[in-house]
Amino acid sequence: MEELASLLEATDAASANRLLVVNGPNINMLGVREPKIYGRKTYADLVRLCRKAAREAGFSECRCFQSNHEGDLVDVIQAAYGEFDGIVINPAAYTHTSVALLDALKSVALPTIEVHISKVDEREDFRQVSYVRAACFETIVGMGLDGYRKAIKDMAAYLREHKGAEKN
Ligand code: DQA
Repeated sequence: MEELASLLEATDAASANRLLVVNGPNINMLGVREPKIYGRKTYADLVRLCRKAAREAGFSECRCFQSNHEGDLVDVIQAAYGEFDGIVINPAAYTHTSVALLDALKSVALPTIEVHISKVDEREDFRQVSYVRAACFETIVGMGLDGYRKAIKDMAAYLREHKGAEKN
């Protein structure tokens, strides 16, 4: 019985997925920056929300990374190769400027969802371009921090579907 339990545990661990949540510049200022647009919740609240949502969605790991530096974001995406099964990313301002982030996401070719807290589609013209979108299978905008919860649930569903398909 004990043997069976540990075997089941090992099988679970092997099939459990690891999630990387990446946030770009100024997301560390949540709660302080433009609260009318981004709300009053802090980055620490966001990390807590993501960890809880990932646990509930069955991820074995949820690593949250934030940086104000483009190269650091490229580095963490590259390091995800072979280490994580999916990426949820809010590249913040780099969404609208960074070919490097697009190329990094394409390089690792992990399933990726793009999230924006605000309604980017209703804001300034310069926010209407997203370079990373071409490497993402889904984009979520304007749901506040709840957008991350949806992204994590959707990522879990996507991985269940596609990992199962790989085995068939
Ligand atoms: C953002 C939207 C971007 O245009 C902006 O530069 C951000 C945050 C969002 O989450 O709504 O920093 O990505």
